[in-house]
Amino acid sequence: TMAANQEFTGNLKRQLEKLFDVSVKATAPDVPGVKPLIDIGKFGDYQCNNAMGIWAKIKGKGTQFKSPLAVGQALMTSVPASEMVESCSVAGPGFVNVVLSAKWMAKSIENMLIDGIDTWAPAPPVKRAVVDFSSPNIAKEMHVGHLRSTIIGDTIARMLEFSKVEVLRRNHVGDWGTQFGMLIEYLFEKFPDTDSVTETAIGDLQAFYKESKSKFDSDPVFKEKAQQAVVRLQGGDPIYRKAWAKICEISRTEFAMVYKRLRVELEEKGESFYNPYIPSVIEELNSKGLVEESEGARVIFLEGFNIPLMVVKSDGGFNYASTDLTALWYRLNEEKAEWIIYVTDVGQQQHFNMFFKAARKAGWLPESDKTYPRVDHVGFGLVVGEDKKRFRTRSTDVVRLVDLLDEAKTRSKTALIERGKDKEWTPEKLDQTAEAVGYGAVKYADLKNNRTTNYQFSFDEMLNDKGDTAVYLLYAHARISSIITKSGKDIDELKKTGKLALDHEGERALALHLLRFAETVEEACTTLLPSVLCAYLYELSNRYTTFYSNCQVIGSPEETSRLLLCEATAIVMRKCFHLLGITPVYKI
Ligand code: ARG
Repeated sequence: TMAANQEFTGNLKRQLEKLFDVSVKATAPDVPGVKPLIDIGKFGDYQCNNAMGIWAKIKGKGTQFKSPLAVGQALMTSVPASEMVESCSVAGPGFVNVVLSAKWMAKSIENMLIDGIDTWAPAPPVKRAVVDFSSPNIAKEMHVGHLRSTIIGDTIARMLEFSKVEVLRRNHVGDWGTQFGMLIEYLFEKFPDTDSVTETAIGDLQAFYKESKSKFDSDPVFKEKAQQAVVRLQGGDPIYRKAWAKICEISRTEFAMVYKRLRVELEEKGESFYNPYIPSVIEELNSKGLVEESEGARVIFLEGFNIPLMVVKSDGGFNYASTDLTALWYRLNEEKAEWIIYVTDVGQQQHFNMFFKAARKAGWLPESDKTYPRVDHVGFGLVVGEDKKRFRTRSTDVVRLVDLLDEAKTRSKTALIERGKDKEWTPEKLDQTAEAVGYGAVKYADLKNNRTTNYQFSFDEMLNDKGDTAVYLLYAHARISSIITKSGKDIDELKKTGKLALDHEGERALALHLLRFAETVEEACTTLLPSVLCAYLYELSNRYTTFYSNCQVIGSPEETSRLLLCEATAIVMRKCFHLLGITPVYKI
């Protein structure tokens, strides 16, 4: 059974839904299954949009109501009294506008300052999830697409972890393809003594891959040997297994550098891991009558697709789909995951839709795609260069990710030096800040776009200190922190004893946005769109600016209250940074 719906203390939308649930039932007792529809309001802080829907169901059926407006009025009058709501009014065809009580808002923020931001975390109905992300292919290349997967997947994992879900962060590396035959054979040729092969000897694994590939394409004897090598590897020949392990190890070291720079945690369970389980899983599908013979291969026909899903190749070998079906089986049955999320480019959407469908047919997953256990393919667009073409660097056709990250850091360091920070700070501090800003910029530039669109990679844009960039946001946070420091007040003491008042419009607008944090994270989680969180963060920083330019903090009669509002803003910003995998800076 799923975890029970908990009390969402921080989630305003949810709390209003509860109130309006009562009024919807009181207003339309004979209309079953009406769910309260609460949205951010155009006129109030929130609005309830149920009047029109209810009207459509009751009009002409002897109702006492004369119009949707009358329904709206009834909804308004039957909202239970709550300290949360200051007032309601009805507008237009029947929207119920809700104005929140400033006193209640202040109290809620005071509570968060005392109990911590974790009290504003969402509570999805799952205990354990798998996030399958990054997942490059060994020896082939780790390209910018894998960088996107790494960044987006990490944020999704972080949001779920914040929601107290146990997340299995899975690196589903491609370590079992037929490419290994030629790689191993090439390794034997170049280094007859395999044991002595080191990373430096092979040098660039991508170049090594290319060389072996061109030999494979041009030399029929080599090709023949490579094909036999695959058979021997998959048959478990120890010498071939050893050579395979060596190549994987070298690749792994290369990937690890990227993960370390990005501070992304991943646990590798590559394609090879699932290999021993494939035959029994295919057999299960077969016994359910799903698998059919087609041109020597074994396939699953699926409604709505014009090609079948191949699960055993005509040579008897397994493929990407056999592995993914097996990995899904493993995650559901062995790992007991209730939500499995795959992060890859949108180009693989059909593959995912197909094996998800096969799993539903096999009864592994419920028919409806929003019920648990649930699977989601989180697809993202291409990374393009400033010329709108697939991203490449000047010299080579592949972009080395480590170089890319290094460049972001170098550029942000240069910018800091231009501002004289090398004279002000220790070299360590300069380096750490350059890293936080540089890597933060790369991550934020990626995450802020709706992931399904192509994303244009531009250092100049992402490192701009104005506009919707990590640099701007990190600076904003640093400024807030220094205001608190400059006040000379003990903020931890103030949090316990100080009172918040929201009398100025700038204060109220900022507070309202702070209170929307919980519902925003929940939305970003359910839609699996990190961009929702980025938009929230940018708006938070804008509202803070408006507040700060209209409301004097230090030395004003409202100093305590306003310092608390600064502190609450800094806390929420830091939590956003944390969820986006960005390291905050405190001084700039
Ligand atoms: N290795 C694949 C690629 O680079 C991505 C794997 C994604 N995960 C999965 N379970 N299929 O395209």
